[in-house]
Amino acid sequence: METRTRKIEAVIEPWSALEGAGVRVRRSIGTRTLNYLDPFLLLDHFGGANPEDYEAGFPLHPHRGIITVTYVMQGTVHHKDTLGNEGSIGKGDVQWMTSGRGILHEEMPQVRPEGNDGFQLWVNLPASRKMMPPNYQDIRSAEIPVIQSAEGAEIRIVAGEYEGGHHGPVRGIPDVEPEYLDVTVPPYSVFHHAISSSHNAFSYVFQGEGMFGPDGTVIRGPQLLVWGDGDSVQVRTGDSAVRFLLVSGKPLHEPVARYGPFVMNTREEIEQTLEELRKGTFISETVIKR
Ligand code: CO
Repeated sequence: METRTRKIEAVIEPWSALEGAGVRVRRSIGTRTLNYLDPFLLLDHFGGANPEDYEAGFPLHPHRGIITVTYVMQGTVHHKDTLGNEGSIGKGDVQWMTSGRGILHEEMPQVRPEGNDGFQLWVNLPASRKMMPPNYQDIRSAEIPVIQSAEGAEIRIVAGEYEGGHHGPVRGIPDVEPEYLDVTVPPYSVFHHAISSSHNAFSYVFQGEGMFGPDGTVIRGPQLLVWGDGDSVQVRTGDSAVRFLLVSGKPLHEPVARYGPFVMNTREEIEQTLEELRKGTFISETVIKR
């Protein structure tokens, strides 16, 4: 079967935003430029070298109807939630949290000499799973398979499958089948990867620069690109290495009603959520330990 290399559909400059209690983020999905790339609702790149950009953190807040994925590049993030999970995630670790019907959590980047750097992605849940019980997976860096391609690229598989049957540790997300790769391509090299033509896909370039797609469009970090239709992607490098996230998933094609940390299908469901918060019936799990 003939393969179709995906072209670049759009290049997005991240917006600067303040999130949580005052964390400086570069937001590339979830803005007026790119509101929704079904099933991806938000992509934030947080942190920096200056503690003022991250130390206020994300104090206790609720979520409903989504999956939040936190991937730490540098530094340490302390977390706790109403399921009773508490701990720290550090360099290369991932927190994969399915909020389902409701969870409260906090994520507090710690001030460290190396600064703080990482990503948060929101993946939408289908209507049939928005009210499922919440769950949480803490994935340590050492559990994430690192594959070297024949052409010299290094691929960390957070979720999904890479050529040759290598699987990431995150499982059990059948509806959107998310694939989340962290790819480093050395200078003067090439990277190819097959992605199901039924999936939407993007890359967030955060280090170096490379030539993306069949036309070799130069993308320099930090920038996000949306891949067009096709069944594979291609990246080449010149005298610079490039590192980027390559994320894809099956679109849900469902209506989206979004209000801050809650993402449902209708306005009525959002109002219901706010009503439960007012009445104190939003969560049934244990109260967070202080
Ligand atoms: Co959150």
